[in-house]
Amino acid sequence: MTFPDLETALVDAHNMAVLGATQTGKTSAVRELQDKTPRRSLWVNERGDKRVPNVAGVEAWDLAEVRDALANGADKVEFLPADRREALPALRRFLWELADAVDRSAELQVVVDEVDRVAEQSGKAYGNLPSRDAVRDFTSEGVKRNIKFVGITQDPTTYDKQALRNSRYRAVWPMSKEHQNAVRKYGFAWDAVRDAEQYAGVLHYMDGTVIGELKAEARYA
Ligand SMILES: Nc1ncnc2c1ncn2[C@@H]1O[C@H](COP(=O)(O)OP(=O)(O)OP(=O)(O)O)[C@@H](O)[C@H]1O
Ligand SMILES: [Mg+2]
Repeated sequence: MTFPDLETALVDAHNMAVLGATQTGKTSAVRELQDKTPRRSLWVNERGDKRVPNVAGVEAWDLAEVRDALANGADKVEFLPADRREALPALRRFLWELADAVDRSAELQVVVDEVDRVAEQSGKAYGNLPSRDAVRDFTSEGVKRNIKFVGITQDPTTYDKQALRNSRYRAVWPMSKEHQNAVRKYGFAWDAVRDAEQYAGVLHYMDGTVIGELKAEARYA
């Protein structure tokens, strides 16, 4: 079986789940990806004290501003909607239309940090979580529209299982034994995760094959 090399994995349109305990280096690594990817990348950030600092891109405070930024040729956008839950379904519709309008030639990327907060495991609320459904759409159909989706979470037990299963790539940083158990079926190489340098994560292909290590340059930390 063949699998992509690290460079391909980071730039192709297949989606990536980024998993690991708090303060392990996940956000920093994706901050670097946002800045360096050849894709036009849109980071769906939070406002206020949960806002991830130092995200590359033009600030867009609503969807109209995202539209304008892209129309004006912005390569990186930091989207700061009032409410990420409300914004994600609308963003999904907008990007689907955009992709269709340009015949999927736009190479886009969407980043959502703390993605479990907008795509939680459904429980009793099954069927009535538009933002989770939007994340499912990004993870299942984004690739067909040339939209890479990158979702980051500290807690694979609270992130929607379907969205997680849909990920073609899984970047894994150290995590607790309980969380390792929660994702035991994914076949991660825990020895490689443990032996990786500080702040480095191990990128796996969907079948558990190790593709390489990811670690932010210090200036993105
Ligand atoms: N490559 C690096 N070199 C030096 N320091 C780093 C590096 N990556 C991360 N750090 C430092 O480690 C801390 C945690 O990094 P980061 O915010 O990326 O982790 P995280 O996994 O996203 O954490 P959380 O889950 O809490 O959001 C930060 O203080 C950051 O400056
Ligand atoms: Mg983080």
